[in-house]
Amino acid sequence: MRRVIFNQKGGVGKSTITCNLAAISAHEGLRTLVIDLDSQANTTYDLLGRAEEPDSTLADFFDQVLSFRLHQRPLSDFIHASPFPRLHVMPASRALEELRGKLESRYKIYKLREALDELADDYDAVYMDTPPALNFYTRSALIAAERCLIPFDCDDFSRHALYDLLDALMEIREDHNPELTIEGIIVNQYNARANVLRKAVDELESEGHSILRPYITASVKVKEAHDRATPLIHLAPRHKVTGQYRELFSALDG
Ligand SMILES: Nc1ncnc2c1ncn2[C@@H]1O[C@H](COP(=O)(O)OP(=O)(O)O)[C@@H](O)[C@H]1O
Ligand SMILES: [Mg+2]
Repeated sequence: MRRVIFNQKGGVGKSTITCNLAAISAHEGLRTLVIDLDSQANTTYDLLGRAEEPDSTLADFFDQVLSFRLHQRPLSDFIHASPFPRLHVMPASRALEELRGKLESRYKIYKLREALDELADDYDAVYMDTPPALNFYTRSALIAAERCLIPFDCDDFSRHALYDLLDALMEIREDHNPELTIEGIIVNQYNARANVLRKAVDELESEGHSILRPYITASVKVKEAHDRATPLIHLAPRHKVTGQYRELFSALDG
C-alpha cells in the first residue's frame, strides 16, 4: 500500500506520524519504504540520523529526471537502509528547493508514480512525508499514493483549512489519480486542548469524515524519539504513545 501523509499546515505531526507508522510497519514484518519529500528533511534525520548527509537523495533522483542522460540510475540507487530491519529511506535534502521550479515547468508530476511502479515488487508498504505546502512534491506524492492520511492538531484549529485541504484532494483525484482514497484524519497531540477538539471532531464526524482511532496524545517521549533518531517502537516499545501508534497502525489496512 502506498500512503501519503498530508496537511499543508506545518507542525501538525506529518513527519512524526510518518516515521512512527513506517517503523511499526517494518517491525511487523513489512518491507517498508519512506520517501521524504520535504526539503527540511526531518523524517530523513529521524530515521537515518544527522551524522552525515546521504550521498544519493530524492533530489538526485529528480535531478536525473530533468537531465536526458541515456543511462538513468534506477530508483533503488537513491534508497538507503535505515538502522532498523526492513525500513528503507529515500532521503530529502535542501537541493529539492532549487529543483522545484524546473520540475514544475517541465510537467514532471507523474515521475514519482512511474518510479514507484517499478519498485512495486520490492516493498509491501510505502509512506510519503510531504512539505507544509501544496507544491510540486506534495502533488507528486498525492498522485503516486493510494491512500491519504491527514494529521490534524487542535492548535489554531480552522475548519476552513481542512475543507480547503479536502477540496485539493478531490481535485487531484479527479484530474490525476482516481485511486486516491482518504483513509482518515489522525488526531495528534490530543490532550493539549481536549474540549475544543472534541467538539470539532464531533462536527467533522457528523459530516461524514473518517476520524481514525485512537487519538495520539502529546508526550515528551515523541521529542526524545526525534532527538535520538529512534522511532518509538524501538525507543520505548511499552510506552502509552507507542501503544496508540500500534493500535492506529492495526486500524489501517496493510
Ligand atoms: N504526540 C506528540 N507529542 C509531543 N510532541 C509531538 C507529538 N507529535 C508531534 N510532536 C512535535 O510537534 C512538532 C511538529 O511535528 P512534526 O511531525 O515535525 O510536524 P510536521 O511534519 O507536520 O511539520 C515536532 O517538534 C514534534 O516533535
Ligand atoms: Mg514535517
